[in-house]
Amino acid sequence: MRKVAIIGIGDTRFGELWDLSLRDLGIHAGLSAVYDANLSGDEIDALYLGNMSAGKFIEQEHIGALIADYSGLARDHIPATRVEAAGASGGLAFRQGYMAIASGMQDIVVVGGAEKMTDVGDTLSTEIQAMAADQQWESSFGATFPALHAMIARRHMHDYGTTREQIASVAVKNHKHGSMNPKAQFQREIKLESVLKSPPVAEPLGLFDCAPVSDGAAAVVLCAMDKARKYTDTPVEVLTSTQASDTLSLAHRESLCRFDATTVAAERAFKRTGLSPSDIQVAEVHDSFTISEILAIEDLGFFPKGQGGAATADGQTALGAKLAVNTSGGLKARGDPIGATGIAQVVELVHQLRGEAGKRQVAGAEYGLAHNVGGTGATAVVQLLGRVN
Ligand code: COA
Repeated sequence: MRKVAIIGIGDTRFGELWDLSLRDLGIHAGLSAVYDANLSGDEIDALYLGNMSAGKFIEQEHIGALIADYSGLARDHIPATRVEAAGASGGLAFRQGYMAIASGMQDIVVVGGAEKMTDVGDTLSTEIQAMAADQQWESSFGATFPALHAMIARRHMHDYGTTREQIASVAVKNHKHGSMNPKAQFQREIKLESVLKSPPVAEPLGLFDCAPVSDGAAAVVLCAMDKARKYTDTPVEVLTSTQASDTLSLAHRESLCRFDATTVAAERAFKRTGLSPSDIQVAEVHDSFTISEILAIEDLGFFPKGQGGAATADGQTALGAKLAVNTSGGLKARGDPIGATGIAQVVELVHQLRGEAGKRQVAGAEYGLAHNVGGTGATAVVQLLGRVN
């Protein structure tokens, strides 16, 4: 296996971007990453693109070819592949690019993620997202993602004594981090009382417990480490990228309070690199709902099961703590254009490991972890990144 470096990053603002199409978003992010890497288009060997559901959101499929074409890469006939794993589409696209370079098959690849969600109404958007749950056992009975996560929250409260306030503290923290991110969808701080009083979506979760519906794109350029210095003085190493799966339906799990795919992907990542959770200073985890971040920080091994809520309320995952979680604002405040999310997480970690995250910089960040989830935990992808000294 060859060492792999990230040599360029690019992203768009996230939000309701009515003046930009999916192709505008994908091209903007991709070209920004290519410029950042000081690369010319004819040096790119392949394109991988994470996208969950362009067919349903904007009636356009064949997204790999579309972005290759409009960014001028079709001219060189490079392979362009779309990757889909619901909310983990971006993270999984990144993993395909990583494997292509690590195996020696390709030297330089662009990996992007894009989603354009706000062209459809709220009801249709909820229905499209619910297609990533189990249609036979969940979605057809009306179980939307907010509803499934509400059940998880109730069970976590019942089994571990997690309080409503602890769950809400995830949103307060992530909005605070988002207020320092000029690309975030929500750049305003919110108070605990506002989260507790926000309109109910699926009780106990309210509006401010949910990631929003978003448009946006993000991209990175991956390169064989032995060629990286030709393009940048600040390569970031991809230490590993792991993936695991679980039952599609929550009903078929032993416990509602764990995402075993997350635990297994993290264990594989730590085993492969010889690192442990205590080595990580900055993590971007999949907080599609406030309760999701609590599950994630437990399942990744940062906190014992049942203590994620208390740790968050205690400030142990905020900027300035030993471990900073979701410095970008996370899905909750940065936004969640589904296919882009797994790449946006990596972009944030690269900012941190290059030491260029501005007001939200984690001092001395050396190792970063990205955690991207599809559905209610049926797919989990973990990336471990390291600063190159
Ligand atoms: N967090 C904070 N503010 C939000 C928000 C969110 N998640 N969603 C919307 N808002 C704000 C909007 O900016 C808007 O504010 P404004 O009036 O000041 O402009 C206001 O709330 C109403 O927005 P609207 O678009 O009408 O909200 P909505 O009721 O249509 O949608 C949700 C709210 C929570 C239902 C929607 O964001 C949602 O479905 N989120 C979950 C997505 C999901 O399932 N993701 C998981 C995939 S696994």
